[in-house]
Amino acid sequence: MKNKLLAANWKSNMTKDEAKAWFEEVSKSNIPNSLGIVIFPPFTFLDFLDFLIKANNLSFKLGAQDISPFDLGPYTGEVSAHQIKEFADYVLIGHSERRSNFNESNELVNKKIDKALLVDLIPIVCVSNLDQVRSLSPGNFIIAYEPIAAIGTGNPEDPKTVFSMVSQIKQIKNADVLYGGSVNENNIKEYLDIENISGALVGGASLDSKSFTNILKNAI
Ligand code: PGA
Repeated sequence: MKNKLLAANWKSNMTKDEAKAWFEEVSKSNIPNSLGIVIFPPFTFLDFLDFLIKANNLSFKLGAQDISPFDLGPYTGEVSAHQIKEFADYVLIGHSERRSNFNESNELVNKKIDKALLVDLIPIVCVSNLDQVRSLSPGNFIIAYEPIAAIGTGNPEDPKTVFSMVSQIKQIKNADVLYGGSVNENNIKEYLDIENISGALVGGASLDSKSFTNILKNAI
């Protein structure tokens, strides 16, 4: 990966009006072109954000927060790879909130990765331990290392431990690895500077436009 990747996971947050206001604010700021920026909104805003990105002349990419393990067809409530591909380049798979709240297994995660790769979506596969890494089928994708204790708690894992975990992940699977878990405007640089890190996955701190623009500013 040439540029460091900054991925913003909005989770189940934001209304359409809030998303519009967020883009208006963020587009006024100086956005470093040495960063790859991907926004992961709820499915319902993908189309609207695609419009806003173009209207504001931004080079942001879009991603979906999940994907169906099935093809198009009779799967009520699911959004399939082909449908996501119309609006997005990336997809998050196996986030710990899906693994814990929706009982997503390693097997399901692998099915989703397969579906994404078939349509050339770039999966960002979230893992919080090495067993989850060992269970991944072969394929070309990005990994986000997100220790559970660091997600949404304001307690990021210390950079030395992150470096060691990412080194072990890379021994198991040759992939670009992002760090996620309580990344914010004050610590972003410290995490992006870790030698074996290809970027960061930011949740809570990406929701506020001011805090997000500060993350971009402090990232370089
Ligand atoms: P957080 O979330 O930045 O709010 O800790 C990260 C994530 O869950 O992807």
